[in-house]
Amino acid sequence: MKKLVTSILSLAVVVGLSGVAFAQEAAAPAAHQESATPHYPLKEPKELDWTFAGPFGHYDKGQLQRGLKVYTEVCSACHSMNLVPFRTLGDLGYSDAQIKAFAANYEVQDGPDASGEMFTRKAVPSDHFPSPYPNAEAAAAANNGAAPPDMSLLAKAREVERGFPRFVFDIFTQYQESGPDYIYSLLTGYEDAPAGFQVPAGAHYNPYFHAAAAFAMPKPLSDGQVTYDDGSPQTVDQYAKDVASFLMWASEPHLEARKRTGFMVMVFLLIFTVLIYLTKRSIYSRIDH
Ligand code: HEC
Repeated sequence: MKKLVTSILSLAVVVGLSGVAFAQEAAAPAAHQESATPHYPLKEPKELDWTFAGPFGHYDKGQLQRGLKVYTEVCSACHSMNLVPFRTLGDLGYSDAQIKAFAANYEVQDGPDASGEMFTRKAVPSDHFPSPYPNAEAAAAANNGAAPPDMSLLAKAREVERGFPRFVFDIFTQYQESGPDYIYSLLTGYEDAPAGFQVPAGAHYNPYFHAAAAFAMPKPLSDGQVTYDDGSPQTVDQYAKDVASFLMWASEPHLEARKRTGFMVMVFLLIFTVLIYLTKRSIYSRIDH
């Protein structure tokens, strides 16, 4: 329904705008040459139905747990999440003991000790998801010159511009999922480069990448790679959805509270408006017009 309304409104505006565009084109045919520079991403992110979309959006804990599994078993080999402490995994339904055991799988650097030396120790729940590399230079050197970005805020940091008129409708439809849509599309969007396109050495063709046609991350997921124990399909499509949801949670762990508060505020404002109106009527009823 939301999509239908948006499409109808977009269509109406686009028809109007194309009239203007046509008139301009007729006047300046040279403008065509400028558009020879490709506009990235080559393909727009696919729009998915997320449980956390809309005013009553909420996270699906099972999905977040699966996303954590995909992150730990696949993505964490290259990507850190150094703003996310292990203890917040309680949000995903894990007990303190489970989180302690989970954190102990990681090693973190600590120190200096009494003799001034840095040392490594097992992580505890208050530690953050560490980087697999000692520094950004080492990360870049191991990945064809592009350091894998930290994932703590990635789902909020990658928002493909939607352009006019859609960004106007997004205000009313409350579309805030362009981050996870982008991550899902990127993970499922690897394809063979079209004939004639020269993929740079060490890069991989992906028309959904926001800054070029190819980038340094090799296709990270394949069917059956991660074992799910809740019977969910073990496909690239499902992995991508789950890990994108997990990254959304990592970026915005308090999304549910924010949406709940927002809804209460709207209800309050509505009631308040009625009260103000009645007050105004009662005051002005005593005045002769
Ligand atoms: C082999 C290492 C490696 C693995 C494993 C890996 N990535 Fe990456 N990733 C990279 C590198 C390198 C980049 C930077 C690419 C660039 O800027 O050209 C990157 C960039 C990204 C980006 C940002 C793209 C952008 O718009 O800038 C996202 C999103 C991403 N990875 C998601 C994932 C997810 C999700 C997983 C796990 C399913 C994963 N990656 C696993 C190496 C990896």
